[in-house]
Amino acid sequence: MTRVLVAYGSSEGQTATIADRIGDVLGDEGHDATLVNLNHPPTGLDPGAYGGVIVGGSIHVGSHQAYVTDFVREQRSTLNRLPSAFFSVSLSSASDDPEARSAADDLVEEFLEDTGWDPDSTLAVAGALKYSEYGLLKRFVMRRIARKSGGDTDTSRDHEYTDWDAVETFAAEFGTLL
Ligand SMILES: Cc1cc2nc3c(=O)[nH]c(=O)nc-3n(C[C@H](O)[C@H](O)[C@H](O)COP(=O)(O)O)c2cc1C
Repeated sequence: MTRVLVAYGSSEGQTATIADRIGDVLGDEGHDATLVNLNHPPTGLDPGAYGGVIVGGSIHVGSHQAYVTDFVREQRSTLNRLPSAFFSVSLSSASDDPEARSAADDLVEEFLEDTGWDPDSTLAVAGALKYSEYGLLKRFVMRRIARKSGGDTDTSRDHEYTDWDAVETFAAEFGTLL
């Protein structure tokens, strides 16, 4: 049994849901996962106290949450020493267009270059359109973006695109590194 930190940033909740599922898979494999929302981390959070760390964030207007980037930059020497993995949640990863999907992969590469982190594995995974979480303006903008990119435009409900098999495989493979 290894203690694993699953630290994430989530603006509308989908990355938090994905982090939960990762924690469940690790738990099923006999590990002890601690989930931490990096927007409100506990005082004295020390990734070095864990046997492995998974970090996740979502993309908004072309970048991951600044507090996720800051955490990884500050902790990169610890993360580079431990088994570690990064998952990135976006709408681009849901696209049928290979160019859009490769843009999401490019943002993962940029994040790693920017922070100096070299994780054992990465996953770019589709998130959700959570119209119910958006204010009027954001709902309008996201509906326009969805229309242009072939996403769902029915704002009366949320739309989830996450490939849960890919998430579970990512978590299970991480478990084998521990
Ligand atoms: C205001 C806003 C901006 C977004 N910008 C992007 C973007 O630039 N690229 C992208 O692929 N997805 C973008 N998305 C989609 C989010 O990455 C997606 O909804 C994801 O599921 C959000 O995860 P979260 O709920 O954990 O914050 C955006 C979403 C919102 C609401």
